[in-house]
Amino acid sequence: MRYTRRALAAFAGLVLLTTAAACGSGDEDSSAATVEVFTWWAEGGEKAGLDALVSRFTAECPGQQFSDGVVAGGAGINAKQVLTARLAQNDPPDTFQVHAGAELTDFIDAGKVQDLTTEYDSWGLRQALPEGLVEDLTVNGEIYSVPANVHRANVVWTNPQVLSDAGINTAPTTLPAFLRDLEKLRKSGVESPLALGRDWTQLMLLEAVLITKLGADKFSGLFTGETSWNSTAVSAAITDFDKLVDYSNADRDALDWPDAERLLIDGKAGYQLMGDWEAADLEAKGFKAYDHFTFPGNGKVFQWLADSFVLSTGAPNPEGTRCWLGTVASAAGQQAFNAAKGSIPARTDTPTEGFSDYQLDAVEDWRTATPVPSCAHGSACSQAWQNAVNSALSAYSTTHHSVTALHKSLAGAAKQFIKQDQN
Ligand code: GAL
Repeated sequence: MRYTRRALAAFAGLVLLTTAAACGSGDEDSSAATVEVFTWWAEGGEKAGLDALVSRFTAECPGQQFSDGVVAGGAGINAKQVLTARLAQNDPPDTFQVHAGAELTDFIDAGKVQDLTTEYDSWGLRQALPEGLVEDLTVNGEIYSVPANVHRANVVWTNPQVLSDAGINTAPTTLPAFLRDLEKLRKSGVESPLALGRDWTQLMLLEAVLITKLGADKFSGLFTGETSWNSTAVSAAITDFDKLVDYSNADRDALDWPDAERLLIDGKAGYQLMGDWEAADLEAKGFKAYDHFTFPGNGKVFQWLADSFVLSTGAPNPEGTRCWLGTVASAAGQQAFNAAKGSIPARTDTPTEGFSDYQLDAVEDWRTATPVPSCAHGSACSQAWQNAVNSALSAYSTTHHSVTALHKSLAGAAKQFIKQDQN
């Protein structure tokens, strides 16, 4: 019998696939159905959080196996692009990580996620979650995702040794005092005292300055159309942001947040503004001698964001995915996940055993402080808006360094993306 070249190639492919399946099975249960969980939690404290959730899922969902759809890159900067391409090709992961708020609304409007109202009721989630958070997950009375946590964005992390070597022993409470300390640190020989990374990390810094300059209500209004971007207060904030950037590392645009964090750990910087996943990450990397303060001038404002998980439209394994979401929704799942991730549980009835002192404070602050949403992490801005702001910052930081040009681009983006019905 003669075999065509094509038939031989197909046969060889089959042998390879069969061998790979046999070899790849390892200690995995080959009869189990898989649930592909798509996140950007690839290393450090982020991966530790995901691993803790996976352990609970494995215990609570027999016959189901976790499949890791991770794409590395802080704030999902790469993952979001891969996800968009996969959804466009009708190749959805079973579930994916998405920020509660405006970012989730994009997926709901596009029909990419399924209604979970029935599950919410059977899991008792409506009672267990803060009312405002449930509102951010709801569109037209239907609820579309399960929040795993609440993170705080407006925190400055420090290397106390570097600061005390320069004679800085107290946390600044105003922006001018912070700028003075940065100058003092530079004069002491720390050339780039403020560790900074690429676009979205710069957006976090800018948002913190805007909170200081505008206060909570006016800051939130920037994203609903109630506060104009064309004001002297906004331009003063951008000028102060520009002064802060002057104290940062010149290679910032090439760095993700853990790379900037490395400058802090290595004593090449004294400060880094970052969300409170940084605490868990510093711990996971063995750097325990850190400290933190709320961004100077933010007072009792808690800038929040929440990671949530959805059931994708067309999910290959909806039953297994519901079990994953049930794990995320459970108080035990939230305890395990948040103890490792550094965030606080979205459920208000979650036991806090295993939480750090920082997290216990954050639980209290979340109850009492004034919440404002985050644009860099999707609670305030749609993805398209985030992309526009990130490119404006990238152009400012890499090319023109013009406060006026940056202000113009930010105001232009707001004009483009604030929904008509919010104006
Ligand atoms: C945020 C996410 C956090 C953390 C951070 C850094 O967008 O909500 O959980 O992962 O990015 O990657």
